[in-house]
Amino acid sequence: MLHVNSRIGQLLHADHLTTLGTLQELEELLVGQGATPPDLAKPAVRAALETLVAVVKGEVSRHFGFEENHLFPVLADAGQMGMTMLLISEHRAILPVAEVAGELAGAALASGSFTPEDWAEFREAGLEFCERELFHIQKEEMGLLAAVAALVGPDEDARLAGVFEGLHAGG
Ligand SMILES: [Fe+2]
Ligand SMILES: [Fe+2]
Repeated sequence: MLHVNSRIGQLLHADHLTTLGTLQELEELLVGQGATPPDLAKPAVRAALETLVAVVKGEVSRHFGFEENHLFPVLADAGQMGMTMLLISEHRAILPVAEVAGELAGAALASGSFTPEDWAEFREAGLEFCERELFHIQKEEMGLLAAVAALVGPDEDARLAGVFEGLHAGG
């Protein structure tokens, strides 16, 4: 879905697409490996895990934070508090499994392997992260971006885009 008039809508949409790509890569790794820990000497495995760590960090510190601290208050003021509260509660359900998956991936990259126990825990957290985040992004791509296009005026759009880009430039 394209919201060509909203810059902040486009920026969020681009982030969502990046995250969806990472989720797909992660799910392929998790489903493909099954219960067997992957060989971290394989560049493709390391790349998938490194991307996951980066996306979890981005989701935690930037994307969710931007939505909750900057975008949702604007939409709540415009009468969309029910939607923003629901999306925040979904963030609260996603973050713990995302953080567990990101931490285990980082630890495995540092040590060079997953123990079977760590791999089992990583698989469980990773699959939950995929499921919850996919559902959340699908919901935001429909409801949130439509609300942004309808309710955020040009000045507010420019201000929010500036904040979003500032957060991304910062780290
Ligand atoms: Fe989002
Ligand atoms: Fe969100």
